[in-house]
Amino acid sequence: MKSDVKNNAIGIFDSGVGGLTVLHSIVSRLPYENTVYVGDTARVPYGTKSARTVTQYAIGIGEFLSHIPVKALVVACNTASAFALDALRGRFDLPIVGMIDPAARRAVAASKNGRIGVIGTVGTVKSGAYGRAIKHISPDVEVLAHACPLFVPLAEEGWLSNDIARLSAQKYLEPMKRHGVDTVILGCTHYPLLKEVISEVLGEGVTLVDSGDEAALDLEGLLVDRGLHRKGGGASHRFYVTDTPDRFVEVGESFLGGRLSDVSHVDIP
Ligand code: DGL
Repeated sequence: MKSDVKNNAIGIFDSGVGGLTVLHSIVSRLPYENTVYVGDTARVPYGTKSARTVTQYAIGIGEFLSHIPVKALVVACNTASAFALDALRGRFDLPIVGMIDPAARRAVAASKNGRIGVIGTVGTVKSGAYGRAIKHISPDVEVLAHACPLFVPLAEEGWLSNDIARLSAQKYLEPMKRHGVDTVILGCTHYPLLKEVISEVLGEGVTLVDSGDEAALDLEGLLVDRGLHRKGGGASHRFYVTDTPDRFVEVGESFLGGRLSDVSHVDIP
């Protein structure tokens, strides 16, 4: 029975291509796991929408994935994790990994001066989810959160290190730098693509925490603990999108860092 479940895929979802950076981290860490990814490209972005709307979308995708069935769910979107994780945990009897807690834990462990920066979408920052998670671990840590909405289109456009990317990073990050943060959480799926320019602006002494890498680490721990970890064999990777696949494939390959095949359209009510 358990070995059947072991072979089930891990369900991963995001508003669009962004979660492919998280999938990249998962596949690097867990190369034998089958995965099914949903990109909600018909309704992207989530970062500017309300908690209620994003939660409804997340539950619809959770229903779709749970019927596949999957053995675990990864909410590979910071905004959906900030808004919908509790609702998903209440609804689905599956191990569920979000983006917030794993990155908060790593940031607290990494920070020496107790000043942590968080960058993300407007929704993620407004939710205060990272601040709560960090203060739950270490109440005295100072948290500075800042939305960087232009980073999403810059990453999708592939403008990762030109003048526009650099000026945007300076404008968004200078206040955080002045405040002396020594650790910054990349609290949005798109930001790992801009790591270089972000690091250049913040300076060498600032540690960047990639929320996708931390979520992949948590997922590994969870699968091992529950005896659901696949240790060998080939792995399949399927993709579903709620709009036509062409743009997802075109933009997504740089996010995944590899070829995208087996992409189908799905309507999610
Ligand atoms: N994936 C989203 C996140 O990590 C960014 C893109 C969006 O706004 O939908 O918050």
